[in-house]
Amino acid sequence: MIGSGDPAIKISVSLLACDFARIGEQVSEAERAGADIIHLDVMDGAFVPNISFGVPVINSVRKVTGLPLQTHLMIQDADRYIEAFRKAGSDQIWVHAEASPHLHRSLQAIHAAGAKAGVALNPHTPLDVLEWVKDDLDAVLIMTVNPGFGGQSFIEAMLPKIRAARAMLGPNVDVAVDGGVDARTAPLVVDAGANVLIAGTAVFSHPGGVAAGIAALR
Ligand code: DX5
Ligand code: ZN
Repeated sequence: MIGSGDPAIKISVSLLACDFARIGEQVSEAERAGADIIHLDVMDGAFVPNISFGVPVINSVRKVTGLPLQTHLMIQDADRYIEAFRKAGSDQIWVHAEASPHLHRSLQAIHAAGAKAGVALNPHTPLDVLEWVKDDLDAVLIMTVNPGFGGQSFIEAMLPKIRAARAMLGPNVDVAVDGGVDARTAPLVVDAGANVLIAGTAVFSHPGGVAAGIAALR
């Protein structure tokens, strides 16, 4: 592992910003550079205004890495696809509260499929939606941009939300942050209580390459 960062802090690398013509190579590069998790952004062009990739890509990524695969579903009707994303090799499956009318059922379905379950919250969504599903959560994802695109700027107003999420959920639930995480914002989110840092642009568009991007975050 690169650097001497807090071992409890995990760096999750978002492939949305990688070169899709060299996806296997880019995953291996990230793995060699000390990435802890591979983050997979699935977008349906309906819940979010962008389309990315789905099950077949995750299947292929599964074959080239032993790292945990963290699948961030930005899709409507996620329940229909949980089984397929699990079979493709996802270790963690996260659904958006805003797209999940039966959130408790979704979390149960993820656990029944044998994956860890998480809930992602858009910037405007209050933490209250977690109140009655707290015991079924392995992770909460505090979006620090509006989901749909990489390369957006970090929303500073989310720092107290991260702090409140940590206070609400205690030490045993992962508090993840996604969007605009870079060498400047990483210390801010860690200070607020986040322990899973998701980064795409800061890793794959770092002028020094993937290893330099991950090192800068650490
Ligand atoms: C945004 C995605 C993020 C995105 C982060 O909807 O959920 O995972 O890849 O990208 P950066 O690190 O470029 O902000
Ligand atoms: Zn994401």
